[in-house]
Amino acid sequence: EPNTPLPPLKVLIAAPRGFCAGVDRAIHIVELAIERFGAPVYVRHEIVHNAFVVNSLKAKGAVFVEELDEVPDGVPVVFSAHGVPKSVPAAAEARALNYLDATCPLVSKVHRQAERMVEAGRHVLFIGHNGHPEVIGTFGQVGPGAMTLVETIEDARAVQVADPGKLAFLTQTTLSVDDTAEIVVELQRRFPGIIGPKGEDICYATSNRQAAVKAITARCDLMLVIGATNSSNSLRLREVAERDGVAAHLIARADVLDWAWFDGVKSVGITAGASAPEVLVQELLALLGTRYALEIEEVASAVEDVVFKLPRALTV
Ligand code: F3S
Repeated sequence: EPNTPLPPLKVLIAAPRGFCAGVDRAIHIVELAIERFGAPVYVRHEIVHNAFVVNSLKAKGAVFVEELDEVPDGVPVVFSAHGVPKSVPAAAEARALNYLDATCPLVSKVHRQAERMVEAGRHVLFIGHNGHPEVIGTFGQVGPGAMTLVETIEDARAVQVADPGKLAFLTQTTLSVDDTAEIVVELQRRFPGIIGPKGEDICYATSNRQAAVKAITARCDLMLVIGATNSSNSLRLREVAERDGVAAHLIARADVLDWAWFDGVKSVGITAGASAPEVLVQELLALLGTRYALEIEEVASAVEDVVFKLPRALTV
């Protein structure tokens, strides 16, 4: 029906969205390692939590494994952006493996803070999500029992400590800004002597993407978040929209979209998690454009210019 006009749909695209500097760096590290050393280059854990990124790198010669003992001798291995326990580089060194660490510098910063606080004799209450690789990596910077995980406000109310005068807290980088603030307030109420990071451990990319969603929810009937279901920061973006009363879906890419979500919808918001490439946003817009006459508006709530240096082994 070439002459039937498409119904209008307002599209609000959040900015910033998608790749952060840590993800960009991690992907570059794998690409440069393949260029420099030739395929295969092994990667321990998904380099970033995104199947599209992982598959693109596989096509270039990366091999993804979960544990170091799956890496054959004599081939280079990259550690993912989420960071690793100290035991992992130690095991790589023991095997004389050529390893490259793609841990985001903002995660490494939390690692060093954890070490310093524990060395100073403090017990660390770590706010984060159980089982996430970043949490496993950060716990693996210090000895067993040196940190306790606090996942929720209920945990913050209930956690018992041996010496309230010797406490510190730290957080995962990709948490909900609002939930974390509430948890920190509760910890400070219960343990007035607790010390925390100088700035925030929640990274600039996480907080900017959450703020960018908040900036458009009032004008959206529906929010689509492009990202993986194991991506912590992407899950938080969906929550932020839902808390503002907007129906929200986290989708890996356009092909899983359900047109039933659009019943009665006049305006849709779009964002992407820090590990989701922009090409997937453009793919979604192209699909929406097959059914609707799109009126696209990008709403920028912050400008990002963060760039992280590559490891020296890849630049000399
Ligand atoms: Fe780093 Fe934050 Fe991205 S910790 S990997 S800049 S989401």
